[in-house]
Amino acid sequence: MNTSTHLAEFGTQLPRDDALIQDAIPANELNREGEAALYESLRTMWHPVAASADLAESPLRVLLLDEPLVVVRLNGQICAFPDLCLHRGTALSLGWVEDGQLRCPYHGWTYGSDGMCTGIPAHHGTKIPKRACLRALRVTEALGLIWVCLDDQPLFDVPSYPEFHDPNFHVLRMPVYDWNCSAARRVENFVDLAHIPWVHDGIIGRRDEPEVPEHEVWREGAELRMAAAVKEPASVKTGASFTASVTWRLIMPFTVVWNQELPDQRHFGGFIAASPLGRKLTRTFTLRHLNYEVEETKLLELEQVIAEADRVIAESQRPEELPVDLTAELHIRGADRISIEYRKWLIEIYKKYGGLAIAR
Ligand code: FES
Ligand code: FE
Repeated sequence: MNTSTHLAEFGTQLPRDDALIQDAIPANELNREGEAALYESLRTMWHPVAASADLAESPLRVLLLDEPLVVVRLNGQICAFPDLCLHRGTALSLGWVEDGQLRCPYHGWTYGSDGMCTGIPAHHGTKIPKRACLRALRVTEALGLIWVCLDDQPLFDVPSYPEFHDPNFHVLRMPVYDWNCSAARRVENFVDLAHIPWVHDGIIGRRDEPEVPEHEVWREGAELRMAAAVKEPASVKTGASFTASVTWRLIMPFTVVWNQELPDQRHFGGFIAASPLGRKLTRTFTLRHLNYEVEETKLLELEQVIAEADRVIAESQRPEELPVDLTAELHIRGADRISIEYRKWLIEIYKKYGGLAIAR
C-alpha cells in the first residue's frame, strides 16, 4: 500500500468547530495491549537516527525503538542493519569498513551493502550459507539526517521541510538532546500553547497573559496543522515584544515544522524531529531557519533555556507514554485542541496499522 492510499484512509479534514472536539472524545480506546501495538506500529514509520555529519568512515551504533542498529556507508551507499553479527552476535558497530564491506571485529566475517555475508575467513573456502544475510533496513538521508524505517512499507513519507532548501534562509543546526519520556509526549509538549506562559514566563510568554489565543487545527495530508497569532516578549530572537502569526505543521508521527512572521519582513522558524529510542527515551533533532542576523550564541542559549524548562516538565509526566486513551487525562475545550486531535490520530493509526508490524 502506498502512502497516498494510507492517507486517503485517514481522511483529510477535521471539523473546525471547537465545540465538536470534546464531545467527540472516545472512551477507553486502548488497553495495555493496544498501547503496545501503537508502539509496535512506529516500526512502520521513518525516524531520524543520526545526523549525516556524524557518520564518518567508521560504522555508527544507533538505537531505534529499543533496537540497536548499525549505520554505515559501503561503497558510498548508506546502509542500516541490526547491530548484530550473524555468527556470534557481536556488535557490528565495533567493526570497520574494508574494501566497501563491513567487517566484524570478532572473527572477521564481512558483509556487503545488501547485507549478504561476503567472506568467512575461517571457513576454508566452502560456500557461504544463504542464511548468512543481515536484514537490510530501509534507510535514507534527508535534511542532513539519516532516517530509518524498521518495516518495508513506511506508512508516511520522510517529513518535508522546504525552508531547509530555501536560499533565503540561514539554517542553524542545534545540539541533539535526549529526554526520559515518550516521543509523543515530547511532540505534544512542543505544540502545547497553554504551557508557554507558565513554563517559559518572560522568555516566550507571560504568566499575566495566560490565555491561549484563538487558533485553528486541521489535517492536511499526513499533517496536523495549527495557526494562531501569538504574543511574544522581547528576546534576542524577536528584538521587541509583538504579536506574530505562527503556523505549525505536526508531521505524523513526531516531526514539527513551524514558522513565525516577525515585523520588518523577518521570518523565524524551525524543525524538530523526535526519535523514539525506546518507549520512554526520546532524542530530539533540531534545526532553525531565519532570514535575518542574530547572535547565534545567544540564540542557542535561549533555545537551551527553553528546552531545559520543557525537559523537566516532560520527564515528570506520568505515565511516561502519551495516554492515547483520551479519557485518561482532562482536556480543556479549545486550549488542548491540538493534543486531542493528535491523540485521536494516534488512535486511528493504532486501529488501522497496530497489528501490521507485528504480523509481518
Ligand atoms: Fe562476527 Fe564471529 S561474531 S564474525
Ligand atoms: Fe515549551
